[in-house]
Amino acid sequence: MKGVILAGGLGKRLEPLTRITNKHLLPVYSKPMIYYPLETLVEAGIRDILLVTGGNNAGDFLRLLGNGGEFGLKHINYTYQKGEGGIAEALNLAEHFADNGKIIVILGDNLVEKSIKEQVEKFKAQPEGAKVLLKEVEDPERFGVAEIEEDRLISVEEKPKQPKSNYIVTGIYMYDNQVFDIIKTLEPSGRGELEITDVNNAYIKKGQMTCDILEGWWTDAGTFDSLLRANSLVAGKKKTDVKG
Ligand code: G1P
Repeated sequence: MKGVILAGGLGKRLEPLTRITNKHLLPVYSKPMIYYPLETLVEAGIRDILLVTGGNNAGDFLRLLGNGGEFGLKHINYTYQKGEGGIAEALNLAEHFADNGKIIVILGDNLVEKSIKEQVEKFKAQPEGAKVLLKEVEDPERFGVAEIEEDRLISVEEKPKQPKSNYIVTGIYMYDNQVFDIIKTLEPSGRGELEITDVNNAYIKKGQMTCDILEGWWTDAGTFDSLLRANSLVAGKKKTDVKG
């Protein structure tokens, strides 16, 4: 299975930190943010990876990551998103790379504590459709919120004022090749973006969506508070790892 990391966007919620660099190049404890999702994919056994970036500092990713040797890769693929059309628009740029196969997508500002290998293996065995990874959080209104009935995901609502649960859809998505046909049917949302939540709802409607709850901590890092949280969580993990 191939992997796609989405690392475009202007990171406006982190202004002025993102005025002269890309959000995903900012430090999280001891490494640039983009290292974490890349390591998560490699650890899960994904070797063929496409990085979608954008903005004024796209070239810096190449200088930083090169061909991915530091991560045990022989090669990294790069592509460029013009403008700010949203996560689903960025993902659409991966169509050629996916080559009709299944893909795992991870947002460049999503960090996880534990391996996602087991979920990846489960999705490889799933005949068709999609899988998302959920996490219980205290501030669901910031995310795509899951409505769950008897362990089944029945809808996702993007940043609702009154969340239907405390479970949110993390930025780790697995899709079969129908995803690109679905993206082509989407209309921009109120924030002017093609929403990944609409893609997920389309799979739910088809009855082809599965979900798993992520173990260990998870965080995004796109706001001042979540970036601080990401730093503390990674620092804490390093200390626990050392203690063994
Ligand atoms: C995006 C998605 C949202 C998801 C979140 C995870 O939100 O739209 O559904 O829960 O990533 O990080 P954004 O970071 O664009 O606000």
